[in-house]
Amino acid sequence: MRRKLAAGNWKMNGTQASLAMLEKLASDHRDSPCDIAVCVPSYLLIPAAATTATGPVRIGAQDCHAAPKGAYTGDIAAGMIADAAASYVIVGHSERRDAYGETDALVRAKAEAAQAAQLTAIVCIGESLAQREAGEALPIIGSQLAGSVPDDSTGDNLVVAYEPIWAIGTGKIPTLEQIAEVHSALREALVARFGAAGNDIRLLYGGSVKPENAADIFATSDVDGALVGGASLKAEDFSPIITAL
Ligand code: G3P
Repeated sequence: MRRKLAAGNWKMNGTQASLAMLEKLASDHRDSPCDIAVCVPSYLLIPAAATTATGPVRIGAQDCHAAPKGAYTGDIAAGMIADAAASYVIVGHSERRDAYGETDALVRAKAEAAQAAQLTAIVCIGESLAQREAGEALPIIGSQLAGSVPDDSTGDNLVVAYEPIWAIGTGKIPTLEQIAEVHSALREALVARFGAAGNDIRLLYGGSVKPENAADIFATSDVDGALVGGASLKAEDFSPIITAL
């Protein structure tokens, strides 16, 4: 049985003052039957993990380098994220694929580095509006999945997040039928590749998830939770999303 997961992605937002929100989430959801994660900017990893050490909230990073260490100015290694006592790392977010030209092969190498460091990689995939309108969404997403997911993936070290690029930060979401169609295709592809273990890998939906639409999205087949951007920045928005899981 897959445990539901609500994962927040603060992107380049938040300061040390935001750590108070994590305490509130931890206390409000202390008995949550679901998993909760918040992916914070790198400089907050250590204090965030310390703040949430004993509660239900786990901490994640938003990217890692594929190499374990070396002359990569400004980057962070997966081992450093694990050393900060974080549990997750997002790789292949469309904002990084777009701004830094990250390819499926690089995303896969980052996910492998994350898994080698005992982190759970949250691998993001998703089509652009032009690809959706051209009827190419399913083949594009299928090829991103095949190219970005490592061979040694399991339900413990991999989460896949389907984030249609046109739904991110726009207030638009696909229809529930479209979400179900993509998630079912992803599940099928994971089972074809990993056998029964493919059923253990969680599939998150991401893109304009809000308290108002969360319950409907979570009731959609093969949706195991959400990767939430803007609505994860305030407890009053993120909390009802967690409760809707
Ligand atoms: O990774 C989460 C994300 O890209 C969705 O952002 O603000 O649309 O929830 P948002």
